[in-house]
Amino acid sequence: MSSDKLMKLSLSLNGSSKVIVEFGMGDGRLLKKFVEKGSDIKLKTNITTPTYVGIELDRKQFEVAEGHLKINENVILLNASFEEVLPMFPDGTIDQILDVLPDPEFIDKPNQKRWQSFYETVYSKLKTGGLLRLVTEITNDLLEPIEDEAYYNWVNWLSGVFRSIGFTIRDCIDRAPHEYSTRCLTQFMGDPERIRIVTLDLVKGHHEL
Ligand SMILES: C[S@@+](CC[C@H](N)C(=O)[O-])C[C@H]1O[C@@H](n2cnc3c(N)ncnc32)[C@H](O)[C@@H]1O
Repeated sequence: MSSDKLMKLSLSLNGSSKVIVEFGMGDGRLLKKFVEKGSDIKLKTNITTPTYVGIELDRKQFEVAEGHLKINENVILLNASFEEVLPMFPDGTIDQILDVLPDPEFIDKPNQKRWQSFYETVYSKLKTGGLLRLVTEITNDLLEPIEDEAYYNWVNWLSGVFRSIGFTIRDCIDRAPHEYSTRCLTQFMGDPERIRIVTLDLVKGHHEL
């Protein structure tokens, strides 16, 4: 991370503005919407201007996002892995984290051991009352329609893992938030029977934001 970005980050962590982080922001179109509205990830606008941190590993996607967002003072964009960036935050310093359609290695069953410890770190970096919003999907290997039973079993399993980390499930909806538009959501939502989505609002502790 460049020294000016590090400086910006540490200033925002020591200041009074909210800190909002997006993992795997892709081309940054959703982050751009928050920045333009000055909103949080729930599109709530009556807050002091937050500091937004967008993280994306893929160089090409990152450059597109940078093109959309670079002139904004309160935005820090990092072409890096969130696994490397997250430990740089002191514990209890992030207000909200958004994770829209993480890659399977960060959410699917076979990789649980790996990603569970990553989300334990996420938990420690959030402020008490802080929100992790996870939008993720289930498909099956044969790309058949996902029946309700399989869908709800999966949601229960996923919710249980996050509860075991310490999160409270504040909200669970069986789709992506209506106000969200991303490159991958547009693709995935074209096949709602085979790709079923859940949005989990996971809060650290028991407090409302
Ligand atoms: C399925 S895409 C979703 C992108 C975007 N959120 C969307 O909805 O269009 C997953 C994204 O996560 C990024 N990614 C995967 N591993 C990452 C990591 N360790 N750190 C940062 N970004 C990562 C990928 O490059 C990709 O852009």
